[in-house]
Amino acid sequence: MTFKKNILCIGAGYVGGPTMAMIAYKCPQYKVTVVDTNPTRIAEWNSDDLPIYEPGLDEIVKATRGRNLFFSTEIERGIKEAEIIFVSVNTPTKTFGAGAGMAADLQYWEKTASQIRNCAESHKIIVEKSTLPVKTALAMERILTSQENDTHFDVVSNPEFLAEGTAIKDLEDPDRVLIGSRETQSGFKARDELVEIYTNWVPKERIITSNIWSSELSKLVANAFLSQRISSINSITALCEKTEADITEVAKAVGTDSRVGNKFLNASVGFGGSCFKKDILNLVYLCRHYGLNEVASYWEGVVRINEYQKERFVLNILSAMFNTLAGKKICLLGFAFKANTGDTRESPAIFIAKKLIEEKAELVITDPEALNNARIDLDGIEGKISYIEDPYEASDGCDAIAVMTEWEIYKSLDFEKIYRSMFKPAFIFDGRNILDHKRLFEIGFNVFPIGKPSLTHF
Ligand code: NAD
Ligand code: UGA
Repeated sequence: MTFKKNILCIGAGYVGGPTMAMIAYKCPQYKVTVVDTNPTRIAEWNSDDLPIYEPGLDEIVKATRGRNLFFSTEIERGIKEAEIIFVSVNTPTKTFGAGAGMAADLQYWEKTASQIRNCAESHKIIVEKSTLPVKTALAMERILTSQENDTHFDVVSNPEFLAEGTAIKDLEDPDRVLIGSRETQSGFKARDELVEIYTNWVPKERIITSNIWSSELSKLVANAFLSQRISSINSITALCEKTEADITEVAKAVGTDSRVGNKFLNASVGFGGSCFKKDILNLVYLCRHYGLNEVASYWEGVVRINEYQKERFVLNILSAMFNTLAGKKICLLGFAFKANTGDTRESPAIFIAKKLIEEKAELVITDPEALNNARIDLDGIEGKISYIEDPYEASDGCDAIAVMTEWEIYKSLDFEKIYRSMFKPAFIFDGRNILDHKRLFEIGFNVFPIGKPSLTHF
C-alpha cells in the first residue's frame, strides 16, 4: 500500500506512543512509525502487553498496528523515509552542572537533532512535541544547519497537552491543538502541513496557530497555571484545618464563580507526575536567566507549597498517631501519582513512603497498576516494605491507612471489613478526600481528611 505521507516520531514514551497511535487511527492515509533507542520499550509496543497503562490505548493500538502504525528501533531509516518528524524524547530536569535541579536537560533532544541532521537526505518538517524551554527551536535550527548540506528543515512547535489517565480522550477530543511556526513562507507551509493532519478529526476552530516562541512558552505556562491552582487550593487546606472551615465547601464557593471555574480545585496530598514540577522549575530557571527574579520567585512558590503539603501530610500522621510511628504498620492506598495510570514519576507517595520509613513505620503498599514502579522507586530503601495488590489483604493488621491515589475502586471498598481486620485504634488519612468520612467515623475509624475537621473518637 502507498501512503500519502510518512510520519516519524522519535521517542516511544507516554506522549509519543499514544499521540502517534491516535494520528494513525484517525489518518489511515498516513504511515506512522514510532522509533526509540530502547529496544525493550519497542518490543513491548509490539506485544500484547503495552509499556504504559492508559484506558482505551490497547484498542486503538490493536486497530492500527501493522496497518499504518509501526514501532521500530531503526531510527536512521525512519529519519530518511519521513517527511514529518515528531520529536517526543524526554526532557527531564538537569541533575548536573549549571542549572542542576532547575533547567531542562536537553541532551536527548540535542542527540536527536544531530541524528536527524546526519541522516536526512531530503526536506523535513521537525515537530517539537516534547516540552522545551522557549527559544529551543532556535538551537534546533542551528544544529540542523550546522553542516554543509542542501537539506532544508522547518522546525515547528506542537506541544502536547494530554494528561495521563485520560490521554486517549484528550487526544481524541482536545480543548485545542497549538501549532507555532516561523513567520516565513516556508514556516507557514510547514505549519499548514501539520494543521492538515489534525483537521482529520479536530474541528478547525480548535487548532490554534501562533508564532513559534509563543507556542513553546504557552506549554510551560499552561502547566504552571494548572499546578498553581492545585497549590492555591492546597495552601488553603492548611488554614481550613486550623479554622474548622471545609476545603470542599470553600472550593465550591470559589469555583462556582465562572471567572474562576470549578476544575482543578481538588485538594490533595500534593501534585505529582513527570511534568508539573520540572516545567515550573524550567520556567523559574528561564526567568532567572533573563534577570526576572520577582517572576521567578512567584512561580517557585507553587513548588514550595507542594513540598510543604507533602511534609504537612506526614507531620499530621505523626501528630495524630501520638507522635510515634516506630513499629506501626501503615497501608498506602495507591502509589500512582494520579488515578488510571501506573506512572509513579514524582508521585507524592514516594516522598511520603520515604518519610514514614524514616520514622521507622512499616509500610504495606497497594495499587492496581503501579506496584512494579513502586518497587523500583523504593528499591534500596532500608525498612520494612511489602507490596500487596489486594487492598483488603494490604490493610489487614495495619494501624493506619493513608490514601495516596484517587482510584475509583477505593471509594467502594468494604470499610467495615477493613476496620475489623485492623489494629485499634484505627486511623485513616485521606490524602485525596475521596472517602465518606462520616461513615468511616461511624464504623470506628479516626478520620483525618485534607483541609477539613478531623473526626476522632478520643
Ligand atoms: P518518556 O520518558 O515516557 O519517553 C521518552 C522516550 O524517548 C523514551 O522511551 C526514551 O527511550 C526515548 N528517547 C530518548 N532519547 C532518544 C533518542 N535520542 N532517540 C530515540 N529515542 C529516545 O517521556 P514522556 O512522558 O513521553 O515525555 C516526553 C516529552 O513530552 C517530555 O518533554 C514531556 O515533558 C512532554 N509531555 C509529557 C506528558 C505526559 O503526560 N507524560 C504530557 C505532555 C508533554
Ligand atoms: C498534566 C496536565 O494536566 C497536562 O495538560 C499536561 O499535558 C501534562 O501535565 C504534561 O505536560 O505532562 P498529568 O500530569 O498527566 O497532566 O495529570 P494531571 O491530571 O494534570 O495531574 C497532575 C497532578 O495533580 C496529579 O498528581 C493529580 O493528582 C494532581 N491534581 C490534579 C490535584 O492534586 N488536584 C487537582 O484538582 C488536579
